[in-house]
Amino acid sequence: MGNVTITNHPLIQHKLTLLRDKNTGSKEFRALVGEIAMLMCYEATRDLPLKEVEIETPVSVAKAKVISGKKLAFVPILRAGLGMVEGVLELVPSARVGHIGLYRDPETLMPVEYYCKLPADITEREVIVLDPMLATGGSAIDAITQIKKRSPKSIKFMGIIAAPEGLNALSKAHSDVDIFCAALDEKLNEHGYIVPGLGDAGDRIFGTK
Ligand code: PRP
Ligand code: URA
Repeated sequence: MGNVTITNHPLIQHKLTLLRDKNTGSKEFRALVGEIAMLMCYEATRDLPLKEVEIETPVSVAKAKVISGKKLAFVPILRAGLGMVEGVLELVPSARVGHIGLYRDPETLMPVEYYCKLPADITEREVIVLDPMLATGGSAIDAITQIKKRSPKSIKFMGIIAAPEGLNALSKAHSDVDIFCAALDEKLNEHGYIVPGLGDAGDRIFGTK
């Protein structure tokens, strides 16, 4: 089974509380999603491979470390994953960005794919899939299945809130994928929403409800 990390840093937990609050409007909600994504990215990139290079400081020659290889690709799951992109690019501006469009059928809760565009050199990159909500896990499982067909070097999943159902389903379906979330909530309700959660992430980011 892949590693599951719940990033409980105080800054993340504080911002998450503001994010959950139903009185937080779209503008602040978007900013918070970006800030949480940036803080979580710090943790999710902890094991990136480094190589040694030689540089000259103003004082002397020095051996120093840089990230090796072709580095990263972020793949947000549309729509809500888009809210996390700006934050992670603040930390890794040279990363490529792919997109997967999925929505949950409101009756069956099954993901329906409508878009997929991934970087051409994805085989040389480590992929981090972005989606704030891991509810039943269907969307993340489907997105990762699609990405695996293009053989990236590795895949991680970075969400904000997970339900136990989604976390179990994702780790079972893709046991090689490390999962990073800021909170593990209580359960799903009868409509497939995370309880207590934060409501519909896409609607709150884009103000569509
Ligand atoms: C939300 C969310 C996830 C998915 C999670 O997207 O952003 O992608 O639901 O649910 P799951 O784990 O049960 O699949 P939604 O389908 O509402 O689409 P949207 O982002 O376009 O609003
Ligand atoms: N998608 C959301 O946006 N919120 C949930 O609680 C579950 C799925």
